[in-house]
Amino acid sequence: MKGLILAGGHGVRLRPITNTLQKQLIPIANKPIIHYVIEDLVNAGIKDVGIVVGPNKEQIIEAVGDGTKLGCKITYIYQDEPKGLAHAILVSKDYLKDEDFIMYLGDNLIKGGIKNFVNNFKNSDNSLSLMLTEVPNPKEYGIALIDEQKKVITKLLEKPKNPPTNLSIVGIYGFTKEVFEAIKHIKPSWRNELEVTDTMQWMIENNYKAGFEKVVGWWKDTGDAKSLLAANQLILDSYIKLEEGTKDNLINPNIQGRVRIGKNCKIANNAIIRGPAIIGGNCTMGEKVFIGPYTSIGNNVSIRKGEIENSIIMDNVIINTKERLISSIFGRGSVFETKNRIPHGNKVIIGDNSRIEL
Ligand code: G1P
Repeated sequence: MKGLILAGGHGVRLRPITNTLQKQLIPIANKPIIHYVIEDLVNAGIKDVGIVVGPNKEQIIEAVGDGTKLGCKITYIYQDEPKGLAHAILVSKDYLKDEDFIMYLGDNLIKGGIKNFVNNFKNSDNSLSLMLTEVPNPKEYGIALIDEQKKVITKLLEKPKNPPTNLSIVGIYGFTKEVFEAIKHIKPSWRNELEVTDTMQWMIENNYKAGFEKVVGWWKDTGDAKSLLAANQLILDSYIKLEEGTKDNLINPNIQGRVRIGKNCKIANNAIIRGPAIIGGNCTMGEKVFIGPYTSIGNNVSIRKGEIENSIIMDNVIINTKERLISSIFGRGSVFETKNRIPHGNKVIIGDNSRIEL
């Protein structure tokens, strides 16, 4: 069985971060989202993985390479324009050949993994299988109607205005080669995309068997700033352990809770770091800096002054402020300073689609 990760798209809802960084490479607890996705496939025994890339394909290739480090073999597939998820499957036909495959949207994070899902799909006669989970906002997702007893999906709807259930399609799909037959029969949607949900609905209407597994644990599609921060919380909660090299945390009263700190960091004696939190290498934390729970800080970050909580700070950021920053995202190389200037006022240089709330 092969894996197919979709790592194209423009990440419009995550601008300005995605103006220069492909969405699937945004770090969560200092690791690009797509690495979690690959690890999940590898853990489920899938070692032959295709990645569909679009704009910024070089960035993905640089971050993932040939897959050796992650325990798999990667093949890159180029999608010239984001013309829909079913179109991404179509451009992968030469790679997939006639094999069954698991398609995994490259910005999805799931706790509990996909091992059971993959095994059950392998051992079934389903042409299609989906992971489903209940969500509070079903209008924003693909929605499934199911027959609980027969364990099959009876109908699928993409972002319905009046959702009949709150059972959402998670971005993880199992397909047999029949999917290519189905794609031949669907037309582009109102947004001019070949939709995978239309493809799957065609399969159901034409009596191909569609199974499902419910998500155990949590699922996050990291499409916007709010869900990125939520994913960061969930990952920090479940993955950061006190490991070798962080034993100092146990004797330094200012490093509290589950905190992982990289090499060559300079942390002032009276700075406080309260976990769960992760700090990369070569970082500086100045006098009385406070790093609060659910904060991920990348490499080469200098917090000269300030308090930060529930935030994602990427590499090479400089922060020097009297303010307390909460639920914030700093892109690579950004600078945040407050100064006592005359005349009094705020001076800003902000990229397109940036957002500041003071
Ligand atoms: C896509 C699918 C949708 C699914 C969602 C999961 O939506 O079309 O059915 O529920 O992924 O992340 P999109 O993120 O493209 O809006």
